[in-house]
Amino acid sequence: MKHIMHTDKNRENKHFIRTKYREYNRSKRYKYRPESEWRTVMKGTDTILEVEDLRTCFYTPGATIPAVDGISFNVGRGKVIGIVGESGCGKSVTGLSIMGLLPGPQGQISGGTIRYWQERKQRAVELTKLGTRQYGTFRGSEIAMIFQEPMTALDPLFPVGKQLDECLRFHNKGLSLVERRSLIRRLLASVGISRDGIYNSYPFELSGGMLQRVLIAMALCGDPKLIIADEPTTALDVTIQAQILLLLKNLQKERGISLLFISHDLGVIAGIADEVIVMYAGRIVEQGTVREIFDTPCHPYTVALMRSRPDLERETDLLEVIPGTVPDLRTMPGGCHFHPRCIHFGKACIDQYPPYCWVSKTHRVSCFFTA
Ligand SMILES: Nc1ncnc2c1ncn2[C@@H]1O[C@H](COP(=O)(O)OP(=O)(O)O)[C@@H](O)[C@H]1O
Ligand code: SF4
Ligand SMILES: [Mg+2]
Repeated sequence: MKHIMHTDKNRENKHFIRTKYREYNRSKRYKYRPESEWRTVMKGTDTILEVEDLRTCFYTPGATIPAVDGISFNVGRGKVIGIVGESGCGKSVTGLSIMGLLPGPQGQISGGTIRYWQERKQRAVELTKLGTRQYGTFRGSEIAMIFQEPMTALDPLFPVGKQLDECLRFHNKGLSLVERRSLIRRLLASVGISRDGIYNSYPFELSGGMLQRVLIAMALCGDPKLIIADEPTTALDVTIQAQILLLLKNLQKERGISLLFISHDLGVIAGIADEVIVMYAGRIVEQGTVREIFDTPCHPYTVALMRSRPDLERETDLLEVIPGTVPDLRTMPGGCHFHPRCIHFGKACIDQYPPYCWVSKTHRVSCFFTA
């Protein structure tokens, strides 16, 4: 009997996944969708990106994994928003969902909206409703992404100059070779590379810091208004990390770009962000201005993250660690997802997920302990 029930469940699951994959393949057939489907209205007056109740799932044969579970946040024009959380919290999946680069058909947006303000055309666009080709025109020229591993983000078989040229040719179709070469020289200079001969260098000939600078130059090729930087300094040593952070900050200020900066390191976020979002197990557990999060962290997870980073002012020989690990998203604990690791948990925390409580107009936290 048990065996039969198990087989039925498997069959049901297979059928569900097949339906989801079919839906995905059908939706990807639309290269262009009519404007009436994706034209929308921004809720805020000075936001470039509005993410509302975004849900992203991975449909795998074993289970449906809710990697991003109903998150909402805005990115203001010319602002830097930092997303912080341990590995596996859904930070990269959030970035990939905005970029429309989820590994399909397993990874799919299953709900919510992503509104983007296209300054050049003075219109708001619902990104999740765009056709595949239309999305392609947004990538690079409106929203660009910088990835964590510079070595794997570039093609090892081509010189970096050729790869930059390819990128420029895609975004600026009318430019001649001479114009493109001079633009590449200027772009490289703007990211601090003025060395001759870099054009013909292969990725393996450059250091991690140089490669990350090339990737930043590549992200700037299409003159984007929003950059998503996914742990851009994690693979670098500390001094180069500081240089790249300074470079990103300067470029962001000079060009008035909005930046969504993803990192697992609160120290890095403190140096660059205006506002901080703390993610845990696919949800936002706390959000506030950088001051609010660092001066008065409210969520026990944020407090624990703060305590687990080196601090010269604290008199201790040992760094504190957060006991346990991020839960397996397939078998998420009921109630507050953080409760198995929380020192303050009570009965309510096991029964239901805590709603947001507003500490100030800009500071929200999802914890019964704070409420
Ligand atoms: N390609 C994938 N297939 C299945 N699950 C995935 C895939 N990519 C990510 N996930 C799930 O999404 C969760 C969040 O991943 P990710 O956003 O990469 O975490 P991080 O916060 O470290 O960037 C992972 O723990 C994993 O369960
Ligand atoms: S809701 Fe409860 S378990 Fe969750 S963080 Fe707050 S006190 Fe801890
Ligand atoms: Mg990641």
